[in-house]
Amino acid sequence: MNLIKTTPAVSSERLSDASYYQRHIFFCLNQRDNGESCCAQFDASTAFERCKSQVKAAGLAGPGQVRVNKAGCLDRCAGGPVAVVYPEAVWYSYVDSADVDEIVESHLKNGQVVHRLLTPAHLGR
Ligand code: FES
Repeated sequence: MNLIKTTPAVSSERLSDASYYQRHIFFCLNQRDNGESCCAQFDASTAFERCKSQVKAAGLAGPGQVRVNKAGCLDRCAGGPVAVVYPEAVWYSYVDSADVDEIVESHLKNGQVVHRLLTPAHLGR
């Protein structure tokens, strides 16, 4: 007799039904006051606001589309400033507003990863 309880597999179709947004991007806005490196020191809040306004201007914001959110430290500070896009779990290290615009146009709008902005895999905290 098998006493181990199993969880029924969830089909990808059901997961798709459960997804409220098509894509979700989180910007680390963490501020450290102890001198350690943090995303806020690279003006991450300006990038966050830029992304929000560009997503809205492109008509991408809202349920079934894209959500732009603030986040605390994502523990990849060495690659900062960072943002991560789900469901693909793609990490970006951006520098300026042109980079943010490219992430919006390429990835958030068209589903194409911006390879030149990927956070190197070995960079953590
Ligand atoms: S401070 Fe931004 S990832 Fe840690």
